[in-house]
Amino acid sequence: MQAVSSDRVKEVRDSINNQTQRYYTNLVPDRDKAVSTELGGIIFNSQAMGLNTNASCAGSSCHMPSNNLGPIAKMQGGEGVLFMKDGFVECKFYPKNLGKDIMEINTPMSRGIVFKQLALSKGQARKEEQPSLMFGATVHQIDFDKLNQIDVMEYYVANAFKLSQAEEIHYTQALMDYQEQFEWDETKYVQWLDGKNNYKYIAETVTMLWDKGCMKCHGGAGGISDEFGNVVLNSTGNNPTDTTRVLTRSWFGGNTMPAMYWGGSYATDSRAGDEKHFSQEGITLTDAEMDAWIYFRNQCLNIK
Ligand code: HEC
Repeated sequence: MQAVSSDRVKEVRDSINNQTQRYYTNLVPDRDKAVSTELGGIIFNSQAMGLNTNASCAGSSCHMPSNNLGPIAKMQGGEGVLFMKDGFVECKFYPKNLGKDIMEINTPMSRGIVFKQLALSKGQARKEEQPSLMFGATVHQIDFDKLNQIDVMEYYVANAFKLSQAEEIHYTQALMDYQEQFEWDETKYVQWLDGKNNYKYIAETVTMLWDKGCMKCHGGAGGISDEFGNVVLNSTGNNPTDTTRVLTRSWFGGNTMPAMYWGGSYATDSRAGDEKHFSQEGITLTDAEMDAWIYFRNQCLNIK
């Protein structure tokens, strides 16, 4: 690849940093954020939140805290693998004899959600809407009344919001506070953006990716945006998203993810999958550029 001047590198690094925007949810401005965040973590990780028992954001292998709040199994929905009359929704271990009436998609990671405003594959919701009752038939629907009946919630709600009974908006706030803490600071890429390392191959590869236009969608320190791109399908043509345009998925995560793209259409870190995606967005990389991207992807975009 072409050597790049230090002025040019600085320019690219500054441009990416300038793209970085964080969108914090602030539905309840008057709160103790630290306590609210802790409350959010309890809800996120506990089975108390489900409309029925046995489901949680983290459980059922969907948004695992041990895996960048991402999935540990390939296809499990995230927009409701299963929606029953009584509202029961589970990710992976749903009863196999029950029909599914909502598409099954590859769960995205919640780490990095602070860099986005929209959620779900078609951007159907603002991110703070998806745990709420108004959002309806999704795996994200939470039983807020049930939460109010749990003693430990009362303690946290009193301390976070100075209330005896919380409403949906408070629990949603807590959940967003929890998820919005998790960024990608430990990756070499973000450390490079922060000036904490100065690897030459990172400078060269990032400049190349910038010039190719990747950061129009995978912009800023989150490597993500609310821009849309084309669904990436493999040769089976199977498209669970039922649309041709989807929200950008984070390019972080790499080999910790079980599969790539909303449809799980390619194996993790598949070169063929990358090439398909780039060509669909009108981007061509030479073999050497492709090698540089893949090296960068494997070295710099992962929290292992
Ligand atoms: C027009 C917007 C756009 C551009 C430009 C773009 N992407 Fe993407 N990217 C997307 C969308 C949308 C997806 C998700 C597609 C899907 O799920 O089917 C995606 C997914 C990815 C993924 C897979 C994420 C995962 O694990 O599922 C990687 C890696 C990626 N892009 C890297 C790149 C690189 C590198 C470039 C430049 C060479 C690039 N993208 C250019 C929008 C874009």
